[in-house]
Amino acid sequence: MFVLGLQGSPRKKGNSVYLLNRFLAECENKGARTRVIHMDGLDIQPCRELVVCEKKGFCPIKDDMEPRIYGLIRKADVVVLASPVFFYNVSAQAKILIDRCQMFWGRRYKMRLADPDAGSRQGVLLAVGASGGKKLFDGVNLTAHYFFDAISARFAESLTYKKVEAAGAVASVPGVDQDIRQAVDRVMDAVLNNPSLVFVSEKDACRSQMAAAYAKMAAQGSIRILSAGIDPAGEIHGATQDFLADQGVDIKYRQPRALDDLMAEEFKKRSPSQVICMTSDTAAVPVPGVETQFWDIDPAQKDTSVALLAEEIHDRVDALISDLQSRYQSG
Ligand SMILES: Cc1cc2nc3c(=O)[nH]c(=O)nc-3n(C[C@H](O)[C@H](O)[C@H](O)COP(=O)(O)O)c2cc1C
Repeated sequence: MFVLGLQGSPRKKGNSVYLLNRFLAECENKGARTRVIHMDGLDIQPCRELVVCEKKGFCPIKDDMEPRIYGLIRKADVVVLASPVFFYNVSAQAKILIDRCQMFWGRRYKMRLADPDAGSRQGVLLAVGASGGKKLFDGVNLTAHYFFDAISARFAESLTYKKVEAAGAVASVPGVDQDIRQAVDRVMDAVLNNPSLVFVSEKDACRSQMAAAYAKMAAQGSIRILSAGIDPAGEIHGATQDFLADQGVDIKYRQPRALDDLMAEEFKKRSPSQVICMTSDTAAVPVPGVETQFWDIDPAQKDTSVALLAEEIHDRVDALISDLQSRYQSG
């Protein structure tokens, strides 16, 4: 599980940093990998409303967003936005990044491309302000709501603290550490308590990516779904990406992943519930000790088009997901 922290305060020892570091440390205790982006000081230019993203699905501004931060947001299971209240909204540093996520909004709402992780990605807001007004966090919460929607994340948690001004003072607010621990439990348990399914192919560039995308769309967050390759390619097969985009499925910014890395990073504490192996070597069980199905869908051995391959994978995936859902629901 990958948790991405977006830190919006310019103060390196400030309250937002404290909250975010505590949150991420708890996530790591529960087995997640984490990464922090301190937005202050990065080369992120404001959105210029060029509307290229709404028509073509990418932002032409060349800076730290493309492809680095966009890729991290797409990869994240949980995105944590931490910001001070500046004039009743998030800081300017955070707002610039949020505005640039109009690119995801354009892909989702103008180009009608669905992120397969929309059913499982979660968004968390951590915010602090100096005053005590009733409406102090209204602006921040509203902006976070629409930000999380644009990046296809469910707004899962909002922890906000009033009357906090001096750098680091939030550490002394009674109950803050407990709030964070409980929020992390809810966020992580929503993912880790689900059964998990791993699609394995040779390169993780076509079949397993396609299968994982279809499976995520079918399972809608009820099953944790990942893909990996024995010897991963550098990037996803272009024809696969284009084919899925024509079907309204958005896998841009995803990367093939090595099975060894995936096992070390995602399954340190418990094994996947099931593996679907699509490699040509049907004798080798990729993850010993885990229930494995072998799917004979090897394009190298078949004279087949992407469309036929996709149709076969889609049918098998739909049957698999409904089978798994009824198995796991019935206990
Ligand atoms: C430019 C600026 C604008 C601010 N606007 C507000 C505000 O509208 N309401 C408020 O309660 N606090 C406001 N504050 C105070 C900060 O929200 C507060 O000091 C917070 O604890 C800073 O968090 P940090 O340590 O993570 O930077 C503002 C501070 C600055 C520097």
